[in-house]
Amino acid sequence: MKVNRRQALSLLAACLATPALGGSRITLRPEEIVTQVAGRRLPMLGFNGGVPGPDIRYRQGDTAQIRLDNGLNDGALVHWHGLRVPNRMDGVNVLTQDVVIPGERFDYRFDLADAGTYWYHSHYLSYEQVSRGLFGAFIVEERDPPAVDHDITVQLFDLLLDADGQFDDSFDPARFATEGRLGNIKTAILSRNSVQQGDRLRLRIINPSIDRIYRLSVTGLAGKIVALDGMPLEVPQALAPMALAPSQRCDVIADVTGPVALRDTYDGANDLLGHLTVTGTRSPSTAPIPTLPPNRMTRPGTPDHTTRLVLQGGAGAPAHRGTGTWALNDVSGLPSRPLIAAKRSQTMRIEIENRTGFPHVMHLHGHHFHELDTSGDLGPLRDSTLLAAGETRAITAVLDNPGAWMLHCHMLSHQADGMATWLTVS
Ligand code: C2O
Ligand code: CU
Repeated sequence: MKVNRRQALSLLAACLATPALGGSRITLRPEEIVTQVAGRRLPMLGFNGGVPGPDIRYRQGDTAQIRLDNGLNDGALVHWHGLRVPNRMDGVNVLTQDVVIPGERFDYRFDLADAGTYWYHSHYLSYEQVSRGLFGAFIVEERDPPAVDHDITVQLFDLLLDADGQFDDSFDPARFATEGRLGNIKTAILSRNSVQQGDRLRLRIINPSIDRIYRLSVTGLAGKIVALDGMPLEVPQALAPMALAPSQRCDVIADVTGPVALRDTYDGANDLLGHLTVTGTRSPSTAPIPTLPPNRMTRPGTPDHTTRLVLQGGAGAPAHRGTGTWALNDVSGLPSRPLIAAKRSQTMRIEIENRTGFPHVMHLHGHHFHELDTSGDLGPLRDSTLLAAGETRAITAVLDNPGAWMLHCHMLSHQADGMATWLTVS
Protein backbone atom coordinates (compact mmCIF):
# COMPACT_ATOMS: atom_id res chain seq x y z
CA MET A 1 0.00 0.00 0.00
CA LYS A 2 1.24 3.47 -0.71
CA VAL A 3 0.11 7.03 -0.32
CA ASN A 4 1.24 9.01 -3.31
CA ARG A 5 3.06 12.24 -3.19
CA ARG A 6 0.48 14.69 -4.33
CA GLN A 7 0.79 17.95 -6.13
CA ALA A 8 -2.03 20.40 -5.90
CA LEU A 9 -2.76 22.32 -9.04
CA SER A 10 -5.11 25.22 -9.19
CA LEU A 11 -5.69 27.78 -11.84
CA LEU A 12 -3.80 30.53 -10.13
CA ALA A 13 -1.42 28.76 -7.80
CA ALA A 14 1.90 27.12 -8.27
CA CYS A 15 2.07 23.49 -7.23
CA LEU A 16 2.10 22.80 -3.54
CA ALA A 17 3.51 19.44 -2.59
CA THR A 18 2.09 17.67 0.45
CA PRO A 19 4.27 15.31 2.43
CA ALA A 20 4.32 11.74 1.16
CA LEU A 21 3.06 9.05 3.53
CA GLY A 22 4.23 5.47 3.56
CA GLY A 23 4.11 2.25 5.52
CA SER A 24 1.24 -0.07 6.17
CA ARG A 25 -0.53 2.19 8.62
CA ILE A 26 -1.70 5.67 7.81
CA THR A 27 -2.43 8.45 10.23
CA LEU A 28 -4.91 11.12 9.24
CA ARG A 29 -4.64 14.20 11.40
CA PRO A 30 -7.23 16.93 10.87
CA GLU A 31 -6.01 20.34 11.96
CA GLU A 32 -6.55 24.04 11.49
CA ILE A 33 -4.13 25.08 8.79
CA VAL A 34 -3.35 28.00 6.52
CA THR A 35 -2.92 26.69 3.01
CA GLN A 36 -3.10 27.53 -0.67
CA VAL A 37 -6.44 26.72 -2.29
CA ALA A 38 -7.48 28.05 -5.70
CA GLY A 39 -4.54 30.43 -5.65
CA ARG A 40 -5.27 31.99 -2.29
CA ARG A 41 -3.79 31.46 1.14
CA LEU A 42 -6.69 30.74 3.40
CA PRO A 43 -7.33 29.48 6.90
CA MET A 44 -8.83 26.04 6.30
CA LEU A 45 -9.16 22.67 7.98
CA GLY A 46 -6.94 20.01 6.46
CA PHE A 47 -5.94 16.39 6.87
CA ASN A 48 -2.15 16.17 7.30
CA GLY A 49 -1.60 19.80 6.41
CA GLY A 50 -3.31 19.96 3.01
CA VAL A 51 -6.57 20.62 1.22
CA PRO A 52 -7.44 18.09 -0.04
CA GLY A 53 -5.90 15.59 2.35
CA PRO A 54 -3.39 13.09 0.94
CA ASP A 55 -4.52 10.68 -1.76
CA ILE A 56 -4.88 7.30 -0.09
CA ARG A 57 -4.07 4.35 -2.34
CA TYR A 58 -4.50 0.67 -1.61
CA ARG A 59 -4.79 -2.51 -3.63
CA GLN A 60 -8.03 -4.47 -3.80
CA GLY A 61 -7.96 -7.13 -1.08
CA ASP A 62 -5.74 -5.06 1.26
CA THR A 63 -6.77 -4.15 4.77
CA ALA A 64 -6.89 -0.42 5.43
CA GLN A 65 -5.49 0.57 8.81
CA ILE A 66 -5.97 4.24 9.38
CA ARG A 67 -5.61 6.15 12.61
CA LEU A 68 -7.62 9.31 13.07
CA ASP A 69 -5.62 11.61 15.34
CA ASN A 70 -7.85 14.54 16.15
CA GLY A 71 -5.83 17.76 16.03
CA LEU A 72 -8.94 19.97 15.80
CA ASN A 73 -10.43 22.04 18.58
CA ASP A 74 -13.64 20.25 17.75
CA GLY A 75 -14.95 16.73 17.33
CA ALA A 76 -13.80 14.62 14.38
CA LEU A 77 -14.97 11.52 12.48
CA VAL A 78 -14.01 10.13 9.09
CA HIS A 79 -16.46 8.49 6.70
CA TRP A 80 -15.12 6.35 3.82
CA HIS A 81 -17.58 7.37 1.17
CA GLY A 82 -18.72 4.55 -1.09
CA LEU A 83 -16.62 1.86 0.55
CA ARG A 84 -18.65 -1.05 1.84
CA VAL A 85 -17.09 -1.14 5.29
CA PRO A 86 -18.34 -2.81 8.48
CA ASN A 87 -20.87 -0.56 10.19
CA ARG A 88 -18.70 0.33 13.16
CA MET A 89 -16.04 1.68 10.75
CA ASP A 90 -18.49 3.94 8.90
CA GLY A 91 -17.67 7.12 10.83
CA VAL A 92 -21.17 8.39 11.57
CA ASN A 93 -21.77 10.17 14.83
CA VAL A 94 -24.12 8.32 17.24
CA LEU A 95 -25.33 5.86 14.58
CA THR A 96 -22.00 3.99 14.30
CA GLN A 97 -19.53 5.52 16.76
CA ASP A 98 -18.98 8.31 19.27
CA VAL A 99 -17.37 11.47 18.05
CA VAL A 100 -13.60 11.58 18.60
CA ILE A 101 -12.87 14.48 20.93
CA PRO A 102 -9.90 16.85 20.51
CA GLY A 103 -6.57 15.13 21.22
CA GLU A 104 -8.13 11.64 21.02
CA ARG A 105 -7.59 8.92 18.43
CA PHE A 106 -9.61 6.26 16.71
CA ASP A 107 -8.27 3.34 14.69
CA TYR A 108 -10.23 2.46 11.58
CA ARG A 109 -9.62 -0.93 10.08
CA PHE A 110 -11.48 -2.55 7.20
CA ASP A 111 -10.92 -4.88 4.28
CA LEU A 112 -11.08 -3.49 0.78
CA ALA A 113 -13.28 -5.83 -1.23
CA ASP A 114 -14.05 -3.37 -4.02
CA ALA A 115 -11.67 -1.67 -6.42
CA GLY A 116 -12.51 1.85 -7.54
CA THR A 117 -12.53 5.55 -6.85
CA TYR A 118 -13.85 6.51 -3.43
CA TRP A 119 -13.18 9.38 -1.06
CA TYR A 120 -12.99 10.18 2.60
CA HIS A 121 -14.41 13.12 4.47
CA SER A 122 -15.43 14.43 7.84
CA HIS A 123 -18.85 13.19 8.91
CA TYR A 124 -19.08 15.40 11.97
CA LEU A 125 -20.55 18.85 11.41
CA SER A 126 -19.83 17.85 7.85
CA TYR A 127 -21.49 20.90 6.38
CA GLU A 128 -18.85 23.04 8.04
CA GLN A 129 -15.86 20.70 8.15
CA VAL A 130 -16.06 19.51 4.53
CA SER A 131 -16.56 23.05 3.21
CA ARG A 132 -13.40 24.00 5.11
CA GLY A 133 -11.34 21.23 3.52
CA LEU A 134 -11.65 17.93 5.41
CA PHE A 135 -11.77 15.55 2.46
CA GLY A 136 -9.47 13.53 0.20
CA ALA A 137 -9.34 10.82 -2.47
CA PHE A 138 -9.41 7.13 -1.54
CA ILE A 139 -8.28 4.90 -4.39
CA VAL A 140 -8.47 1.12 -4.43
CA GLU A 141 -6.49 -0.19 -7.38
CA GLU A 142 -7.55 -3.33 -9.19
CA ARG A 143 -5.39 -6.40 -8.59
CA ASP A 144 -4.53 -6.18 -12.26
CA PRO A 145 -5.06 -2.53 -13.17
CA PRO A 146 -5.57 -1.51 -16.80
CA ALA A 147 -2.43 -0.12 -18.43
CA VAL A 148 -2.32 3.68 -18.37
CA ASP A 149 0.56 6.15 -18.39
CA HIS A 150 -0.83 8.29 -15.59
CA ASP A 151 -3.49 7.70 -12.95
CA ILE A 152 -4.66 11.15 -11.87
CA THR A 153 -7.11 12.23 -9.16
CA VAL A 154 -9.27 15.25 -9.93
CA GLN A 155 -11.23 16.86 -7.12
CA LEU A 156 -13.84 19.50 -7.94
CA PHE A 157 -14.19 21.98 -5.14
CA ASP A 158 -15.75 25.35 -4.62
CA LEU A 159 -15.09 28.02 -2.04
CA LEU A 160 -17.25 30.84 -0.81
CA LEU A 161 -15.14 33.96 -0.27
CA ASP A 162 -16.31 37.33 1.01
CA ALA A 163 -15.49 40.73 -0.52
CA ASP A 164 -12.10 40.74 1.26
CA GLY A 165 -11.20 37.37 -0.22
CA GLN A 166 -11.62 35.63 3.12
CA PHE A 167 -13.47 32.40 3.77
CA ASP A 168 -17.11 33.35 4.18
CA ASP A 169 -18.79 31.44 6.97
CA SER A 170 -21.57 33.90 7.60
CA PHE A 171 -24.94 32.31 8.09
CA ASP A 172 -27.39 33.12 5.36
CA PRO A 173 -30.71 31.33 5.89
CA ALA A 174 -31.68 31.91 2.25
CA ARG A 175 -28.88 29.58 1.16
CA PHE A 176 -30.19 26.79 3.30
CA ALA A 177 -33.62 26.93 1.67
CA THR A 178 -32.37 26.81 -1.93
CA GLU A 179 -29.55 25.03 -3.74
CA GLY A 180 -27.28 25.39 -0.71
CA ARG A 181 -24.01 27.09 -0.03
CA LEU A 182 -22.51 27.48 -3.48
CA GLY A 183 -19.04 28.94 -3.62
CA ASN A 184 -18.01 31.85 -5.80
CA ILE A 185 -14.65 30.24 -6.69
CA LYS A 186 -14.59 26.87 -8.48
CA THR A 187 -11.50 24.82 -9.04
CA ALA A 188 -10.27 21.36 -9.99
CA ILE A 189 -7.40 20.05 -7.91
CA LEU A 190 -5.36 17.53 -9.93
CA SER A 191 -2.67 15.19 -8.65
CA ARG A 192 -0.57 15.92 -11.73
CA ASN A 193 -0.27 18.97 -13.98
CA SER A 194 1.40 17.88 -17.20
CA VAL A 195 1.15 15.01 -19.68
CA GLN A 196 2.38 14.12 -23.14
CA GLN A 197 0.27 14.02 -26.24
CA GLY A 198 -0.53 10.34 -26.84
CA ASP A 199 -0.46 9.44 -23.13
CA ARG A 200 -3.24 7.19 -21.91
CA LEU A 201 -4.74 8.62 -18.71
CA ARG A 202 -7.06 7.39 -16.06
CA LEU A 203 -8.84 10.32 -14.46
CA ARG A 204 -10.55 9.65 -11.16
CA ILE A 205 -12.93 12.55 -10.86
CA ILE A 206 -14.50 13.25 -7.48
CA ASN A 207 -16.93 15.97 -6.42
CA PRO A 208 -16.32 16.74 -2.73
CA SER A 209 -18.03 20.17 -2.96
CA ILE A 210 -20.69 20.48 -0.31
CA ASP A 211 -23.57 21.65 -2.50
CA ARG A 212 -22.45 22.30 -6.06
CA ILE A 213 -23.41 20.13 -9.05
CA TYR A 214 -20.96 20.28 -11.97
CA ARG A 215 -21.44 19.33 -15.56
CA LEU A 216 -17.92 18.43 -16.46
CA SER A 217 -16.89 18.95 -20.07
CA VAL A 218 -13.43 17.74 -21.01
CA THR A 219 -11.47 18.69 -24.12
CA GLY A 220 -8.16 17.25 -25.33
CA LEU A 221 -9.05 13.63 -24.52
CA ALA A 222 -10.51 10.77 -26.55
CA GLY A 223 -11.80 7.84 -24.52
CA LYS A 224 -14.60 6.51 -22.35
CA ILE A 225 -16.27 6.81 -18.96
CA VAL A 226 -15.51 3.43 -17.38
CA ALA A 227 -16.92 3.69 -13.84
CA LEU A 228 -19.46 5.65 -11.81
CA ASP A 229 -19.24 6.06 -8.03
CA GLY A 230 -16.36 3.58 -8.01
CA MET A 231 -18.28 0.78 -9.72
CA PRO A 232 -17.23 -0.32 -13.23
CA LEU A 233 -19.76 0.15 -16.00
CA GLU A 234 -20.64 -3.07 -17.79
CA VAL A 235 -20.45 -1.09 -21.00
CA PRO A 236 -18.21 2.00 -20.89
CA GLN A 237 -19.95 5.19 -21.98
CA ALA A 238 -18.94 7.85 -24.48
CA LEU A 239 -16.89 10.65 -22.99
CA ALA A 240 -19.71 13.20 -23.11
CA PRO A 241 -20.22 16.02 -20.59
CA MET A 242 -21.08 14.38 -17.28
CA ALA A 243 -23.15 15.54 -14.34
CA LEU A 244 -21.37 15.17 -11.03
CA ALA A 245 -23.46 15.99 -7.98
CA PRO A 246 -21.83 16.35 -4.54
CA SER A 247 -20.08 13.09 -3.56
CA GLN A 248 -20.39 11.45 -7.01
CA ARG A 249 -17.38 10.13 -8.92
CA CYS A 250 -16.57 8.99 -12.39
CA ASP A 251 -13.52 7.29 -13.87
CA VAL A 252 -12.38 8.13 -17.36
CA ILE A 253 -9.78 6.26 -19.39
CA ALA A 254 -8.72 8.32 -22.38
CA ASP A 255 -5.83 9.28 -24.64
CA VAL A 256 -4.42 12.80 -24.77
CA THR A 257 -5.11 14.43 -28.13
CA GLY A 258 -4.20 18.00 -27.15
CA PRO A 259 -4.08 20.34 -24.16
CA VAL A 260 -6.56 18.99 -21.62
CA ALA A 261 -9.11 21.45 -20.20
CA LEU A 262 -11.79 20.69 -17.63
CA ARG A 263 -14.78 23.02 -17.74
CA ASP A 264 -17.97 23.31 -15.78
CA THR A 265 -20.91 23.78 -18.15
CA TYR A 266 -23.71 23.21 -15.62
CA ASP A 267 -26.77 25.38 -16.00
CA GLY A 268 -25.32 27.63 -18.71
CA ALA A 269 -21.93 28.14 -17.04
CA ASN A 270 -18.69 27.85 -18.99
CA ASP A 271 -15.90 28.04 -16.43
CA LEU A 272 -12.42 26.62 -16.66
CA LEU A 273 -11.80 24.46 -13.57
CA GLY A 274 -8.36 23.09 -14.33
CA HIS A 275 -6.08 21.85 -17.05
CA LEU A 276 -3.18 19.58 -17.95
CA THR A 277 -0.34 21.07 -19.93
CA VAL A 278 1.04 19.01 -22.82
CA THR A 279 4.84 18.85 -22.75
CA GLY A 280 5.74 16.44 -25.56
CA THR A 281 4.45 13.72 -27.81
CA ARG A 282 4.55 9.94 -27.76
CA SER A 283 2.93 7.40 -29.97
CA PRO A 284 -0.54 6.68 -28.68
CA SER A 285 -1.69 3.28 -27.44
CA THR A 286 -3.43 1.17 -30.04
CA ALA A 287 -5.19 -0.96 -27.45
CA PRO A 288 -8.94 -0.34 -27.10
CA ILE A 289 -10.21 1.43 -23.97
CA PRO A 290 -10.68 -1.43 -21.47
CA THR A 291 -13.77 -2.42 -19.53
CA LEU A 292 -12.94 -2.67 -15.81
CA PRO A 293 -13.53 -5.99 -14.03
CA PRO A 294 -16.74 -5.88 -11.97
CA ASN A 295 -16.74 -5.83 -8.18
CA ARG A 296 -18.62 -8.66 -6.53
CA MET A 297 -22.22 -7.61 -6.14
CA THR A 298 -25.45 -9.53 -5.68
CA ARG A 299 -28.00 -8.62 -8.31
CA PRO A 300 -31.29 -7.52 -6.77
CA GLY A 301 -34.39 -9.56 -7.59
CA THR A 302 -37.96 -9.09 -6.43
CA PRO A 303 -37.97 -6.64 -3.51
CA ASP A 304 -38.77 -7.77 0.04
CA HIS A 305 -39.21 -4.14 1.07
CA THR A 306 -40.78 -1.49 -1.11
CA THR A 307 -41.13 2.00 0.20
CA ARG A 308 -41.47 5.60 -0.87
CA LEU A 309 -39.26 8.48 0.16
CA VAL A 310 -40.64 11.94 -0.46
CA LEU A 311 -38.21 14.85 -0.50
CA GLN A 312 -39.87 17.96 0.84
CA GLY A 313 -39.24 21.56 1.77
CA GLY A 314 -37.16 24.50 0.67
CA ALA A 315 -38.19 27.73 -0.97
CA GLY A 316 -41.51 27.64 -2.79
CA ALA A 317 -42.47 24.07 -1.85
CA PRO A 318 -45.67 23.05 -0.05
CA ALA A 319 -45.47 22.87 3.74
CA HIS A 320 -44.39 19.66 5.45
CA ARG A 321 -44.61 18.50 9.05
CA GLY A 322 -40.86 18.42 9.78
CA THR A 323 -39.17 20.93 12.07
CA GLY A 324 -36.36 21.90 9.65
CA THR A 325 -36.24 23.57 6.27
CA TRP A 326 -36.10 20.20 4.52
CA ALA A 327 -37.77 16.91 5.32
CA LEU A 328 -38.03 13.30 4.20
CA ASN A 329 -41.48 11.76 4.57
CA ASP A 330 -42.52 14.68 6.83
CA VAL A 331 -39.62 14.29 9.27
CA SER A 332 -36.60 16.60 9.49
CA GLY A 333 -33.46 14.87 10.72
CA LEU A 334 -33.11 11.21 11.68
CA PRO A 335 -36.51 9.73 12.53
CA SER A 336 -36.82 7.53 15.61
CA ARG A 337 -37.59 4.52 13.40
CA PRO A 338 -35.62 3.48 10.34
CA LEU A 339 -37.13 3.85 6.89
CA ILE A 340 -36.52 0.12 6.33
CA ALA A 341 -35.65 -2.60 8.84
CA ALA A 342 -34.33 -5.43 6.68
CA LYS A 343 -32.95 -8.84 7.33
CA ARG A 344 -29.57 -9.49 5.84
CA SER A 345 -29.62 -10.21 2.10
CA GLN A 346 -33.14 -8.93 1.60
CA THR A 347 -33.79 -6.69 -1.38
CA MET A 348 -35.15 -3.19 -1.04
CA ARG A 349 -36.70 -0.88 -3.55
CA ILE A 350 -37.20 2.78 -2.73
CA GLU A 351 -39.13 5.13 -4.91
CA ILE A 352 -37.64 8.57 -4.32
CA GLU A 353 -39.88 11.46 -5.21
CA ASN A 354 -38.43 14.96 -5.28
CA ARG A 355 -41.32 17.26 -4.40
CA THR A 356 -39.07 20.29 -4.00
CA GLY A 357 -38.02 23.01 -6.39
CA PHE A 358 -34.32 22.00 -6.29
CA PRO A 359 -32.13 19.07 -7.23
CA HIS A 360 -30.96 16.67 -4.51
CA VAL A 361 -28.43 13.85 -4.44
CA MET A 362 -29.40 10.97 -2.15
CA HIS A 363 -26.56 8.90 -0.73
CA LEU A 364 -26.87 5.49 0.95
CA HIS A 365 -24.13 4.33 3.29
CA GLY A 366 -22.66 0.84 3.31
CA HIS A 367 -24.12 -0.33 -0.01
CA HIS A 368 -24.29 0.45 -3.69
CA PHE A 369 -27.70 0.40 -5.35
CA HIS A 370 -28.93 0.27 -8.92
CA GLU A 371 -30.81 3.19 -10.34
CA LEU A 372 -33.90 1.93 -12.17
CA ASP A 373 -34.73 3.54 -15.47
CA THR A 374 -38.27 4.56 -16.36
CA SER A 375 -39.05 1.15 -17.86
CA GLY A 376 -37.92 -0.53 -14.63
CA ASP A 377 -34.62 -1.89 -15.95
CA LEU A 378 -31.53 -1.94 -13.77
CA GLY A 379 -29.31 1.05 -14.43
CA PRO A 380 -25.76 1.62 -13.22
CA LEU A 381 -24.61 0.93 -9.70
CA ARG A 382 -24.26 4.08 -7.63
CA ASP A 383 -23.92 5.15 -4.05
CA SER A 384 -25.49 8.56 -4.70
CA THR A 385 -28.34 9.36 -7.07
CA LEU A 386 -29.15 12.81 -8.44
CA LEU A 387 -32.80 13.83 -8.74
CA ALA A 388 -33.80 16.97 -10.60
CA ALA A 389 -36.57 19.16 -9.18
CA GLY A 390 -39.85 17.27 -9.50
CA GLU A 391 -38.18 14.03 -10.58
CA THR A 392 -39.00 10.55 -9.27
CA ARG A 393 -36.57 7.64 -9.42
CA ALA A 394 -36.55 4.16 -7.98
CA ILE A 395 -33.43 2.52 -6.60
CA THR A 396 -32.92 -1.09 -5.63
CA ALA A 397 -30.25 -3.00 -3.74
CA VAL A 398 -29.56 -6.18 -1.85
CA LEU A 399 -28.99 -5.09 1.75
CA ASP A 400 -26.18 -7.41 2.72
CA ASN A 401 -24.16 -5.26 5.08
CA PRO A 402 -25.43 -5.48 8.67
CA GLY A 403 -25.84 -2.34 10.74
CA ALA A 404 -27.51 1.06 10.86
CA TRP A 405 -26.91 3.05 7.67
CA MET A 406 -27.63 6.64 6.82
CA LEU A 407 -29.52 7.66 3.70
CA HIS A 408 -29.24 11.40 3.22
CA CYS A 409 -28.95 14.23 0.78
CA HIS A 410 -25.25 14.84 0.10
CA MET A 411 -25.88 18.50 -0.42
CA LEU A 412 -24.55 19.02 3.03
CA SER A 413 -26.58 22.14 3.80
CA HIS A 414 -29.71 20.13 3.08
CA GLN A 415 -28.49 17.28 5.25
CA ALA A 416 -27.70 19.72 8.06
CA ASP A 417 -31.20 21.13 7.89
CA GLY A 418 -33.30 18.00 7.77
CA MET A 419 -32.67 15.71 4.76
CA ALA A 420 -31.52 12.55 6.50
CA THR A 421 -32.94 9.18 7.35
CA TRP A 422 -31.57 5.70 8.02
CA LEU A 423 -32.19 2.04 7.54
CA THR A 424 -31.12 -1.07 9.40
CA VAL A 425 -29.94 -4.48 8.31
CA SER A 426 -29.85 -7.26 10.89
CU1 C2O B 1 -20.22 11.15 1.92
CU2 C2O B 1 -23.01 10.44 4.85
O1 C2O B 1 -21.61 10.80 3.40
CU1 CU C 1 -30.65 18.12 -1.04
